[in-house]
Amino acid sequence: MKIGILTGGGDCPGLNPVIRAVVRKANVSGCEVVGIKNGWKGLIDNDTIPLTLNTVSGILPKGGTILGTSRTNPYKKEGGREKTKENFSKLGLHALIAVGGEDTLGVASKLIKDEIPNIVGVPKTIDNDLSCTDYTFGFDTAINTAMECIDKLHTTAESHHRIIVVEVMGRHAGWIAIESGLAGGADVILIPEIPIDMDEVCALIKKRHGRGKNFSIVVVAEGAQFKSRSMVLQEEKLDEFGHVRLGGIGEILGKEIEKRIGYETRVSVLGHIQRGGSPTAFDRILGTRFGVKAVELVLHKKFGRMVALQGNKVIDVSLEEAVKELKTVDEEIYEIAKVFFG
Ligand code: F6P
Repeated sequence: MKIGILTGGGDCPGLNPVIRAVVRKANVSGCEVVGIKNGWKGLIDNDTIPLTLNTVSGILPKGGTILGTSRTNPYKKEGGREKTKENFSKLGLHALIAVGGEDTLGVASKLIKDEIPNIVGVPKTIDNDLSCTDYTFGFDTAINTAMECIDKLHTTAESHHRIIVVEVMGRHAGWIAIESGLAGGADVILIPEIPIDMDEVCALIKKRHGRGKNFSIVVVAEGAQFKSRSMVLQEEKLDEFGHVRLGGIGEILGKEIEKRIGYETRVSVLGHIQRGGSPTAFDRILGTRFGVKAVELVLHKKFGRMVALQGNKVIDVSLEEAVKELKTVDEEIYEIAKVFFG
């Protein structure tokens, strides 16, 4: 059996452990693996590399993806959809493992119906916003990176008696903000799920300063919005999946805090640092478990399924269900975070 694998969308730590696990499990199962380069783009362009035990040797601790990635949407390219089908056959593939977030897996879910029925999905994203799985790999590394940055920002905020606003990624879900903020002991955490009330933010900071703490850390998710203003957009241009590029809310928030309460404020945007670096043990293990399970699904011809973590079990769920709606921050964790505000 010949299995293709591609990684699409924003990269994240843990992709290489998945690729390695797929190749190793395929090898002991008597299957061959072909790496498709740069996400769906590679399948449109027929751009591939053979993946052998030697190709994947030593990649477990490496961030990023040895296959490269792109945000290419075959449904937005002239003849793209047809090309994917054509090249799937040309390559002699029996199955395809698509590793990605809502966009890459959304395409997979459509292709299953239209062109390539033999697809299995593996959920990846630092945003942790895919439904039907408790965690996506990449998230744990991202929140650990953000937490370390928050720790570092604490010491300088304290020395200078400043407020530091830390803008984190996560798109339209506040998982990175809430979990890195909780782990880093943030004094206020602002997420897309709850519109920002400036009066409340200022009251929380003042309350804290009122008890003698003359510095504060405010974590804000890039997708958060003000209650009284429209969404902050850096660019109006949309990508092939219809997403705007988020970012910039930290700067506006910082200025507003300084203007309203007069405390010296600085802003730190963590950006793509959150997507880089070596995967944590959690992400290496999750990626490995997902990779092995994905090959098992292929062997059992369980197509149209996505591997997922529920509790501590790696299971398979409907790919279509998983991409139906985003998984946003639940009330329970937000209520816990709120205990430490102000
Ligand atoms: O989806 C992952 C993510 O890092 C988001 O958190 C962020 O909004 C986006 O990708 C950034 O995308 P790009 O790498 O295209 O700037």
